[in-house]
Amino acid sequence: MEKIGVGYASVTDIEKKYVMDALENERLSQGKYVAEFEKKFSLAHGKKYGIMCNSGTTALHLALETLKEVDHWDSDTEVLVPAITFIATSNACLHAGLKVKFVDVEPDTYNMDPMEIEKHITKNTKCIIPVHTFGMPCNMDQIMEISKKYGLRVIEDCAEAHFAKINGTSVGSFGDISAFSTYVAHTITTGVGGVVCTNDRNCMEILRSLVAHGRACTCERCVASDGENVCPKRMQSDIDRRFSFVRLGFSYRVGEIEGALGLAQLDRKDEIMGKRRANAEYLIKGLERYEEFIQLPRHPEHIEHTYMMFPLVVKRGNHMDTKDFVRYLESHNIETRPMLPLLNQPIYQKIFGDMEKEFPVAEYIDHHGFYIGCHHGLETRHLDYIIQVIAGYIDKQFNV
Ligand SMILES: Cc1ncc(COP(=O)(O)O)c(C=O)c1O
Repeated sequence: MEKIGVGYASVTDIEKKYVMDALENERLSQGKYVAEFEKKFSLAHGKKYGIMCNSGTTALHLALETLKEVDHWDSDTEVLVPAITFIATSNACLHAGLKVKFVDVEPDTYNMDPMEIEKHITKNTKCIIPVHTFGMPCNMDQIMEISKKYGLRVIEDCAEAHFAKINGTSVGSFGDISAFSTYVAHTITTGVGGVVCTNDRNCMEILRSLVAHGRACTCERCVASDGENVCPKRMQSDIDRRFSFVRLGFSYRVGEIEGALGLAQLDRKDEIMGKRRANAEYLIKGLERYEEFIQLPRHPEHIEHTYMMFPLVVKRGNHMDTKDFVRYLESHNIETRPMLPLLNQPIYQKIFGDMEKEFPVAEYIDHHGFYIGCHHGLETRHLDYIIQVIAGYIDKQFNV
C-alpha cells in the first residue's frame, strides 16, 4: 500500500480557475478575493467580520493583542489554555507578553475540561482559549457560563474545527474573537494562512490595523488600496492615512492567491467535509470491535464533528504498548502523529519546569495518544487497509 498520510490538500479546476483569474487581474496584494473570502468565511462561523492573516498563530496573536489593547491587560494577565493543544495556542500568549495557565482536558474529547477551569482562575485571569481539537467542539455552554461568571474574555481556537457545530451553532460564534488556521491539512486550506473573526466593530478595526503595521485607516478602500476607489479621509491630515501608523502593528497579511484558494475551497466545503465525515464514520464502524483497546472519536448527537484528524488513544490496563503499536502502523505505511503533547515539550519544560504530573489526563494522552488521517483523499481501499492493519496488530497480540 502507498503511504497513507495524515494530511491532504486537493487542488481542483475551481482553485486553478480562481487563482488564474487573480493572476490575470495582475493583483497580488489584498483585493476582491481576500475580501470575499473574509466575508463568506466569517459569516459561516456566525461572525460579522473576518480578517485574513498569514497563519493560525498570527490569528491568535492578533486576537490577544486586540483584547490586550481594548481591556488594558498588563504583563501579569493570565490566559487559560488547554493542556493538550498544538503549541501555537500557548506560544501566541507568550508572544503577546501574557502568562499562560494550563487547564487539564477531558479524557474522551481531548478538549479543555470545564470542570477544571475554575480552580485556575485568579484575580489576574482575563481570558480563556478553548481549542476545538481535531474538529470536536468544546463544551461551549459551560465555558461561556464560567466566562460570564468571572467576566473573562473568550478567544476560540478553531484552527482544527472549521464549520464544526454544537446544536446547529457553529464553533467560532461563541467567543469574543475566533481564530482559524488554513494551513494545508486543515479542512479549508489556502496553503498557509489564517482568519480571525469577531462581531465587535472596534475589535475588527484594531485587528485590521494590527495585521497591516498598525495603520490608521482600516476602511475597505484603504485596505484594498486599489488606486481608483480612494478613501475620502485619506488626505485629510498631513500624512496619507494609509501610511499613518497609530499602534505597534505587524506584517501579517496575505494576498489574492491565498484569497482565491480560500474562496475555491469554500465552494467545495460540503464535498470536502462530507468525505472526511464518511471516512471517519467508516473507520469507527470498522474498528468498534477493538474499543476495549483503543478509544475512538465518539461524539453525541447534537455535535457535528468535522474530523480534521482521526485521534486514537490506547486505553489503560490492557498492556498494549503504544510505542510498539505506532511503530507497527508506521512500518505498514500508515502515518501517525503524536496527539499534541504540550507540557513535555523541551521548550516548555525549560520555561515552566516539570508540570505533567499536575495534569493527569493530559499526561496520559501525551504518552498514549496519536492520530492518523481520515482526509478526503482517502478511498475505501485505504480505510479497509487501515482497519485490517490495526485489527491484525490487536488480534495477534491479544487473540481477539
Ligand atoms: C489548535 C491549533 N492552533 C493553532 C495552530 C496554528 O496554525 P498555523 O500553523 O497556521 O500557524 C494550529 C496548527 O495546526 C492548531 O492546530
